[in-house]
Amino acid sequence: MTNYQTKPVILVTGGAGYVGCHSVLQLLESSYRVVVVDNCSNAYVPEEDSNGNIQSLPESLRRVQILAGRQLEAFYKMNLVDQTESLNDVFMRHKIRAVIHFAALKAVSESIQQPLNYYSNNLIGTLNLLNVMKRHGCRDLIFSSSATVYGLPQFLPVTEKHQVGQNVLNPYGRTKYMIEQILEDLCSVPREFSNKMNIPAPWNIIALRYFNPVGAHPSGIIGEHTQDTPSNIMPYISQVAIGKRDKVYIYGEDYDTYDGTGVRDYIHIMDLASGHTHALEYLLSTPAVEDVCEPSYNNGTYKVFNLGTGTGYSVIQLIQTFEYVNKVKIPYEITFRRPGDAGVVYADVRLAAQELGWKAKYGLEDMVRDTYRWQVRFPDGFKSKYSDEKC
Ligand code: WQD
Repeated sequence: MTNYQTKPVILVTGGAGYVGCHSVLQLLESSYRVVVVDNCSNAYVPEEDSNGNIQSLPESLRRVQILAGRQLEAFYKMNLVDQTESLNDVFMRHKIRAVIHFAALKAVSESIQQPLNYYSNNLIGTLNLLNVMKRHGCRDLIFSSSATVYGLPQFLPVTEKHQVGQNVLNPYGRTKYMIEQILEDLCSVPREFSNKMNIPAPWNIIALRYFNPVGAHPSGIIGEHTQDTPSNIMPYISQVAIGKRDKVYIYGEDYDTYDGTGVRDYIHIMDLASGHTHALEYLLSTPAVEDVCEPSYNNGTYKVFNLGTGTGYSVIQLIQTFEYVNKVKIPYEITFRRPGDAGVVYADVRLAAQELGWKAKYGLEDMVRDTYRWQVRFPDGFKSKYSDEKC
């Protein structure tokens, strides 16, 4: 029987979202104790549960607890931009060993329409988090970054050494790039200065650059909940598959690719989630602050890893795989290129394999099969009722 009281407490910001809830599930299954803060801006919270009681937990996390067979330590609805004191209370109440920071606005097209909202939310929210972490001597952080920081690829596959911050195509990607710069600076503070400032230990930070997250938990009980018209290809295809939309519009077929349509490195959400657990194990292998008898004299560590499969598929290949695996027809129409789209993007994934011992396991057929299972079972995502109460 696992003695959870001895396990580290991990704070997950944005843990009710798509990537967040799949990662929280794997953390719980790996016996971590998990505290989630989320402003629920991208998470569905039903008025009441299936017994008619008021439900304050986002539906994604209620189902995560059922799947994990155990509960979160705590959930707090809050945003990081103007509730810093509430966040401080969380650190007072829980002995947070490390933080996984997902909380951010992440819709590319929306970021172009609302840049100030994106800079405020993503940057100020992160700075508030870092200040509270510093106040409580919590120095271990995993940051949810994005392959969008690479801009238009100058070479392929894209390695972690590829230029970043150049011709990044939208404010969303630029917030990710700027935050990475902030984190790298934090880890570069010369130790002699930190010690004078009585900062007991260096920051240890990992930034994970996601390529194209898709798919759903194989149970079909949790997945990607899209509130509006999906801007990403996979949720759009799956809505066409169940008749919610009439056809897919393919943005251009004149790219320099196998069939002219855009190529991307799609990664199963389950692989993405396990990438975070591997990164956390790597991070926690360094001693915690209270275990450091002498102030550490080494600088902090800032590491970046691509989370992808290393294989690219075109839009038409994705559609054809979806049709073949799920025995459905996906009508499509070729239309104009979407401004800012790259033709081909896929990852060099060797570094995460070497340093984190992590490699994607799921293939494209798993991705389309698990996406469709979730979509069919819950056509309105987490708004569709699920009453398999187990805990
Ligand atoms: C994939 C391909 C489109 C929609 C986004 C964001 C960001 C990042 C990864 C986390 C492209 C084509 C798409 C459609 C289409 N996630 N397409 N018709 O733009 O590669 O990256 O996801 O950081 O959210 O950068 O993903 O799914 O929008 O596009 O033809 O209706 O599908 O042109 O070739 P993208 P996407």
